[in-house]
Amino acid sequence: MAKRIIQVYEKPADVTGCSLEHTVAVVIDVLRATSTIITALKNGCRGVIPTAEIEEALALRQRVTDHVPLLTGERQGKKIPGFDLGNSPLEFTKQTVKDKLVIITTTNGTRALLAAAEADKKYVLSLLNLQAVAAALDRDEQDITILCAGTDGGNSLEDSVCAGLLIDELVHSSDQYVVDVHGNALRDRALSYKQDLVKMFTDAAHGRYLKEIGFIADLEYCARLNSIPLCAVYENDVIIKVKN
Ligand code: MLT
Repeated sequence: MAKRIIQVYEKPADVTGCSLEHTVAVVIDVLRATSTIITALKNGCRGVIPTAEIEEALALRQRVTDHVPLLTGERQGKKIPGFDLGNSPLEFTKQTVKDKLVIITTTNGTRALLAAAEADKKYVLSLLNLQAVAAALDRDEQDITILCAGTDGGNSLEDSVCAGLLIDELVHSSDQYVVDVHGNALRDRALSYKQDLVKMFTDAAHGRYLKEIGFIADLEYCARLNSIPLCAVYENDVIIKVKN
């Protein structure tokens, strides 16, 4: 079996100048964009369209004519004025999102998704759906690029830990993967946090910030490793659920 290289970029800026062509990308923004997207899909939304800017999200809502999409997202962790929902996964209930198209713009997460554009396939990863994505990756053939959203241009502990846990899951399931020193270091650190992911969030700057502004329940929710057996891909500008 041909070996597959796993490469981790801890923030979008690290990808500059690197080609993602012919790789499968895995995009992570544990707090909270990818956790929110996975929750929305689990609760029956039709699809999620990420945009980088608020203006793009507003313009897109005008262009969708067959039904009224939900406009969602955050700046500084808080709901954008005039939007239907913020970026707390707990807002994306079945009652609110079922059969709706969701447009989302967040500070880091949606930009990371857009930065992965040229990859052959793009998976959306959070702690919630880690095993489901690992199982899907096992069936692909290309090298894997893990792209963390990070926070405000820098690395973020929670995304790097999620990357490390994904690597651990992959190398346990198959010997087809090649992991470099960086990936192995992330894996070791992630394993040291695995038993207490809420504590990991409180060691993370963005986790502490979310707690400060009242989102402690989001931290507890986003730490529920493998609680949603759902795989989602970003293709043709929309994130949809795919069969496992
Ligand atoms: C982001 O994209 O930066 C985040 O998802 C921020 C947040 O916690 O809402």
